[in-house]
Amino acid sequence: MLINIIGAGKLGKSLGRLIAQSGFAQIGSVFNTTQLTANKSCEFIGQGIACAKLSDINSADVTFITTPDDKIAEICFQLVQLNKLQPKNIIVHCSGSLSSDILSAAKAINCMTASLHPIRSFVDPNLSVQQFHGTFCAIECEPAIFPNLSALVTAIGGQVLQISKETKSLYHAGMVIASNYLVTLFDLALKCLIATGISLEQAKPVIASLMESSLQNLTENLPAKALTGPIKRGDNITIEKHIEALSGEAELLSFYKMMGRLTIENLTTHSPELKNKLLATLQHL
Ligand SMILES: NC(=O)c1ccc[n+]([C@@H]2O[C@H](COP(=O)([O-])OP(=O)(O)OC[C@H]3O[C@@H](n4cnc5c(N)ncnc54)[C@H](OP(=O)(O)O)[C@@H]3O)[C@@H](O)[C@H]2O)c1
Repeated sequence: MLINIIGAGKLGKSLGRLIAQSGFAQIGSVFNTTQLTANKSCEFIGQGIACAKLSDINSADVTFITTPDDKIAEICFQLVQLNKLQPKNIIVHCSGSLSSDILSAAKAINCMTASLHPIRSFVDPNLSVQQFHGTFCAIECEPAIFPNLSALVTAIGGQVLQISKETKSLYHAGMVIASNYLVTLFDLALKCLIATGISLEQAKPVIASLMESSLQNLTENLPAKALTGPIKRGDNITIEKHIEALSGEAELLSFYKMMGRLTIENLTTHSPELKNKLLATLQHL
């Protein structure tokens, strides 16, 4: 099987190297914005022919468009215009937020279209390749090519998660909450510790270590079981003290109260009386 890569940046290079190393397929043409970066990408991948123009690429069984999201539709359209795609070729993009509908130009000439979103942050391709094993990849595609793409993901060491086109935005919102908002949570906790006089250097590893232990609990248990702390214990006095301590920080306080209410409602099994008491504490201004 021959696989082309259009846009071999952080993700494209990593995928290219993983595919080449696996022996599952051969990397064919590699195209970037410049010949220089295409050459460097091929060097990193260890395979592939760097192309100076999109019109220079050869057709392949599978084409990955791993450019920035806002270029995917345009590249797909150009590939069709340049006659680089044949019916039954598989065209894949890796955006987490877009569905395979963005590849409609290829679908119109009877190509098979897919989105394949590796659920990992790719920053340094060397590190990403080393750490890829076990990474979940969310695949949304026509049923006929799901086995092919699953086999590819498995061959490079990934794990398959099948998702649907219709619910892709909901899926992606969940991934953003899990990844991006974890960073926001970290930042808010950091602000609290720094406000106590603890230095940034001291505070960072403390929060990271606490978050790691919570994540470990969550890996082994359902959220309600993994929960610890004052809400789990029904400790209203401690919650009141937190509210008092945060009283000078309006945004942080309103966030604390909102998260507290969600925690009580979704993750505790307290009696209705205790739940109402805790909720009342978290409701007043
Ligand atoms: N990075 C992640 O953590 C991650 C994770 C999951 C999914 N994704 C998805 O993966 C895709 C790529 O993201 P990325 O982070 O790898 O981006 P990136 O590092 O910016 O790489 C984009 C690549 O596309 C090339 N490019 C830009 N415009 C082009 C064009 N018009 N024609 C040909 N090549 C073009 C760039 O080439 P030059 O270097 O020559 O400009 C660069 O090599 C996106 O769809 C993104 O949503 C990324």
